[in-house]
Amino acid sequence: MSLAEIGATANGGVCRLALTDEEIAARRLLIDWAEALGLSVFTDDIGNLFFRLAGSDPEAAPVVTGSHIDTQPTGGKFDGAYGVVAGFEAVEAMLDAGAAPTRSVEVVAWVNEEGSRFSPGMMGSEAFTSRRPIAQILEVTDADGITTAAALEAVLAASPNLERREFGTPIAAFIEAHIEQGPVLERNGVPVGVVTGIQGSRRFRVEVNGEAGHAGTQPMAERRDALLAALRIVDALRATFAPDDAKFTVGLFDVTPNVPSVVPSRAYFSIDLRHPDQATLARLGDAIAAVCADHAAPCAARIKEIATSESLEFPEAIRATIAAAADTLDIPAIPILSLAGHDARQLHYHCPTGMIFTPCKDGVSHNEAESATPADLAAGTRVLAATLVKLATDV
Ligand code: GLV
Ligand code: MN
Ligand code: MN
Repeated sequence: MSLAEIGATANGGVCRLALTDEEIAARRLLIDWAEALGLSVFTDDIGNLFFRLAGSDPEAAPVVTGSHIDTQPTGGKFDGAYGVVAGFEAVEAMLDAGAAPTRSVEVVAWVNEEGSRFSPGMMGSEAFTSRRPIAQILEVTDADGITTAAALEAVLAASPNLERREFGTPIAAFIEAHIEQGPVLERNGVPVGVVTGIQGSRRFRVEVNGEAGHAGTQPMAERRDALLAALRIVDALRATFAPDDAKFTVGLFDVTPNVPSVVPSRAYFSIDLRHPDQATLARLGDAIAAVCADHAAPCAARIKEIATSESLEFPEAIRATIAAAADTLDIPAIPILSLAGHDARQLHYHCPTGMIFTPCKDGVSHNEAESATPADLAAGTRVLAATLVKLATDV
């Protein structure tokens, strides 16, 4: 709740966009918590924050947990923040209990998971795991033309004394706790989900170019209205994806010149397409170009794929460790597929990775009304702590 005060919105949500002053304040709070617990703090060249509880074998690769502290512009208190706070709580519980793990246990806050200011997101985990070249990440601009490099410089300058860590340092295992962001756990009355994998996604940008004209004088038949062409394309895509029940979202839509009495000369929009079956996702994503070409006339459409993530399955051994931790604690848990994307998606290609889900109210997320009960969050955190102890002790 203290973290949620930073960037708090009037409607009870949080707006803490990546690499902003709000994020700098939130990072300060985490660093203060870490110092109070006696954890050592590291960063890296993209600004990920690592908080380390030293194990008895400093050479052994750490077990890492955490998530992200940036939010959507109309985000909630729990998406991302829960995983980071749960990590701190688990480490504090280990200290309180006098646990003496062999491996170090680290809490991480990955930079820019959400990707609403600098897109696409997951910049921190992608840079750390070299899934996307850092040079490409640094040149991404926000809507005001500010580069990621420039915004990052201010963030790193705010905590100049932190030791820098290399990208790709070995990790023994990564466990991310997160609210489910969907209704399955709540509907089943179960406090913990052992995440089996993450559904794949493909993200595109479409630019439709037409021609500006006078709203009162230009004959309808002679117009090249970019907005109307974009609407035809969006509706045709909806119809194309519907039989496979794919998740299809056009969340960003921009019209130029965006004034009432000029026929739009340009429309620019995003496509977020997701499906758990990799072959279906590939087929549907590959169909977008033809749909655009078929419905753009008399305008012209250009599409660009900006991010592609295959559906993935977390390793059975990690899932079994989480399930066994829940079982030992007598906390009911069920397997569940993640329909949302997470930094764990990137870490999966770097080290054995898994996720722990907890319910959220009515399955609502990416919404200021996002909510979760202390009891459910605590249950997830207990399972997280037991999982971390197990992974850090049985080396
Ligand atoms: C992550 O926030 C996602 O959009 O899946
Ligand atoms: Mn998240
Ligand atoms: Mn999110």
